[in-house]
Amino acid sequence: MGTAMVARDAQGGEEMSLESDVIAKITPTLEDRKRIDSIAAELKGRVQKYMDEHGIDAELMFVGSYSKDTYLASPDLDLFMMFPVGTPRRELVDIGLEVGEKVLHGTRMYAEHPYTSAVFEGVDVDLVPNIHIKDTEHMETAVDRTPFHTKYLNSRMKPEDHGQIRLLKKFMKGIGTYGAEPRFRGFSGYLCEILVLKYGSFRRVLEAAANEWKVGMRIWIEEEGPEMHAPLVFYDPVDRKRNVASAVHEDTLSRFIVAAKDYLAHPSEVFFFPPRNCYLSDAQIEATAHSGMFRLISVVFDKPDTAEDNMYAQLWKTRYALQDQLQRHDFVVLHAAHGYDGKTMTVIFMLTCDRLPKSMKRIGPDVDAATADGFLTKWGESAIVKPYIEDGKWCAVIPRTYISAKEMLRDTISQAGIGKNIDPSKVKILDHDRTVAEGDRTVLSELLDPTPIWRR
Ligand code: UTP
Ligand code: MN
Repeated sequence: MGTAMVARDAQGGEEMSLESDVIAKITPTLEDRKRIDSIAAELKGRVQKYMDEHGIDAELMFVGSYSKDTYLASPDLDLFMMFPVGTPRRELVDIGLEVGEKVLHGTRMYAEHPYTSAVFEGVDVDLVPNIHIKDTEHMETAVDRTPFHTKYLNSRMKPEDHGQIRLLKKFMKGIGTYGAEPRFRGFSGYLCEILVLKYGSFRRVLEAAANEWKVGMRIWIEEEGPEMHAPLVFYDPVDRKRNVASAVHEDTLSRFIVAAKDYLAHPSEVFFFPPRNCYLSDAQIEATAHSGMFRLISVVFDKPDTAEDNMYAQLWKTRYALQDQLQRHDFVVLHAAHGYDGKTMTVIFMLTCDRLPKSMKRIGPDVDAATADGFLTKWGESAIVKPYIEDGKWCAVIPRTYISAKEMLRDTISQAGIGKNIDPSKVKILDHDRTVAEGDRTVLSELLDPTPIWRR
């Protein structure tokens, strides 16, 4: 017992030093801070000056990780223009965007809320107009709750929490679960922050995830909110009607749980600083694909002309729609992966077979159903085996419409329910051999070798 304790303490010590080493590496240096602080001050000063000159009545406030000192290297700046209660929405939008254009020469963005996105002295900046509400019961725009997050965190964080939050964010990035955007379907920065507040430290968050979390978990800090169903529910401490984890997909949550268990069993810097993606070589891809155990098919299309979040949302939607379409036509989808290389989007499916037998059995209606006559008329002549009765239903053996997966997708893709900005007439479909020869290497690597990077 005595030796076990000593061993455990020693090990605990090593882990602590691993974590303090990582904190030291990811915490901005004094120089980093000076640089971002001076850019932030300059930005705020310029916007304030424009507002003064044009008699615009709004209060400026930094929100996001910069305002909470929870940012990692090269943060973005989120600056809110808080208009007084009673400002008409039209005015907020017009003036908010005008300032963004005149001061920052930025791009107008409309997600659910209009704002300006710009690069200011090398830093990504979002300038966001909102209403300066008194409490979150009286939300007027979708982002009015955000300044409350800054106030909440800054009143609750202990000095050591900043490092613990940075560790958790870096870990999430390393294992690929960080970001609430559709691309990542994962944990937002604010979610990482309140996870550390709830559990007390990076390590405690991981212990909770590894030992207690289940898909469908609901957690809160002070007060539970109304019943909600999602893979993970974390009631927002500043507005308990809202689930901070609403973007977290079941598969992202599961990946985090697996990584937490693995890290606790074998702590390593690899989780925080994964090597650059290691792709399979062409020879490895060919060797796997020529095993004869499966067939590949790629669907390739140009990036739809829309904002990044919407683009990734459409990529996911297209992947699921095509998978359904394949399955509706009796192709067995073993596995799928997708990716975007900056220009082209690719979805690759692994099928048991990409050519099906010529015939199939069509199970029709019950013999006493009103639709029975229709079935008999339809298949009375053209079936290979004309309608027969089995288990009380009309059945027939018929020729299959599509034998080849490629032809099926080519002919039916416009009815498959793919993303709305994707032109089905421009979609390219690559069969097995072309996929092996010229399919997207990153997507193929993920499909054929999905082992998480920290387990290699
Ligand atoms: P950001 O996406 O910039 O996140 O949102 P962040 O916390 O600053 O993290 P990093 O370091 O840039 O990655 C800015 C603020 O908007 C709110 C949060 O208050 C966040 O701090 N927000 C953003 C949400 O509440 N939910 C989201 O999904 C995204
Ligand atoms: Mn930010």
